[in-house]
Amino acid sequence: MKKVFIETYGCQMNEYDTELVKAILKNEDYEFASSAEEADVVLLNTCSIRENANRKVYNRIHQIQHRRNGNGVKIGILGCMATNFRKQLLDNPRLPIDFISGPDSYKRLPNLIEQTEETGGKGFDVTLSEFETYSDIYPTRESGINAWIAVMRGCDNFCTFCVVPYTRGRERSRSPESVVAETQRLAAEGFKQVTLLGQNVNSYKHADKDFAYLLEKVSEVEGIERIRFISPHPKDFPVSLLKVIVENPKVCKHIHLPVQSGNDRILEAMNRTYTQAEYLSLVDNIRVLNPDIVLTTDIIVGFPTETDQEFEDTYKLMQQVEYDSAFIFKYSERPQTISKRKFPDDISDQKKTERIVCLNELQNEISYKKNQAHIGQIHEVLIEEESTKKSENDFKGRNDGSKIVIFPKGPYGRGQFVDVEIIDTTALVLKGKVVSIAG
Ligand code: SAH
Ligand code: SF4
Ligand code: F3S
Repeated sequence: MKKVFIETYGCQMNEYDTELVKAILKNEDYEFASSAEEADVVLLNTCSIRENANRKVYNRIHQIQHRRNGNGVKIGILGCMATNFRKQLLDNPRLPIDFISGPDSYKRLPNLIEQTEETGGKGFDVTLSEFETYSDIYPTRESGINAWIAVMRGCDNFCTFCVVPYTRGRERSRSPESVVAETQRLAAEGFKQVTLLGQNVNSYKHADKDFAYLLEKVSEVEGIERIRFISPHPKDFPVSLLKVIVENPKVCKHIHLPVQSGNDRILEAMNRTYTQAEYLSLVDNIRVLNPDIVLTTDIIVGFPTETDQEFEDTYKLMQQVEYDSAFIFKYSERPQTISKRKFPDDISDQKKTERIVCLNELQNEISYKKNQAHIGQIHEVLIEEESTKKSENDFKGRNDGSKIVIFPKGPYGRGQFVDVEIIDTTALVLKGKVVSIAG
């Protein structure tokens, strides 16, 4: 039996894809090695969203080759770099890569590995599909509390900065039946929470069924206690979906709502197709329905031509919305994207750094203030795992709003719900003590 080791970079969609690849290879009698050093085949499931994601992978390829010098390991590149950097990966004679396989080609991966072994040459299969959803494959997961389920693949939004429509191809949705069947199987295996994944879940569409319908159906699965989802796009947030999120007790009260910028000219140049006012009005609508809902976001600073004043609009929007947390990124020019073709990457790295530091400081203050307001409250927490190595006497879980809660161990364990009184916080986590154990 051949031993394979897979390393995953990037987003949760890639985590899910790694689990799909494991299922496909297991079916072909592969075994899994616990490190790259012990494997016959090493697969890197890569991300291409920003330049530093790429750099990590190049470094890792050289490191594996160096450690395994003369030891006949096959190295394969999967994921978003495979489709986006096919030429650079294959044509560089100094890169010790044997094959590359894109996100829609994983069913043919065993053949590809075999072929490269027979020929000794480099192989590739990076064709994108309009139909592949892998609905017929049940991913091989580590047992646990939370499971990812990709409910759709690809993206048709073409935000001008973003490489995903090129790396993952056209948008397509799985049938609600296949998602529900996967959820039922997960429940039977003891999973308590599912996170539904898509690049834009509110464009989920299968026949006449939308994402609100899918959430309702998944919530009917007994044994699954919590449902999360990422990410919705602010441009098309139907009221029917908001209602399900707010009213269905199993759906977590957390919405990740990437804004990217608070300035209308930049939003237009990004092709986000909403204005600052439209976004703010969506936030108002959400908070009218549930003032306590946790809101998080993604922001890009230093998009080409962004002026200090335009950046200021993002700062003000963050002050106004008061997100619970935010992921803030420096603009990174990506191959093939519209913004690369249209605009020079003209904001200096120093300027981008100043802007990111400024927003992170603001967000830290807001996150801390919002977390402190929870002190004294009782939160229902689903226990996920032991806390970090530093404090092995603690458990770590999440509340209904996806916030991490840490508390001392006791007569309860993974997968159980406990009520935790919040007694302290940082900007990132809530800390507390268990006041009761759910039945
Ligand atoms: N589909 C998701 C986003 C996936 S990428 C959505 O639309 O919500 C996650 C985040 O990475 C994006 O929201 C954006 O903030 C950031 N990002 C994407 N491309 C980028 C680039 N070229 N440079 C910097 N950040 C980028
Ligand atoms: Fe990229 Fe925009 Fe699609 Fe998100 S919605 S994956 S940011 S193109
Ligand atoms: Fe995900 Fe990175 Fe691809 S964020 S979709 S793995 S480019």
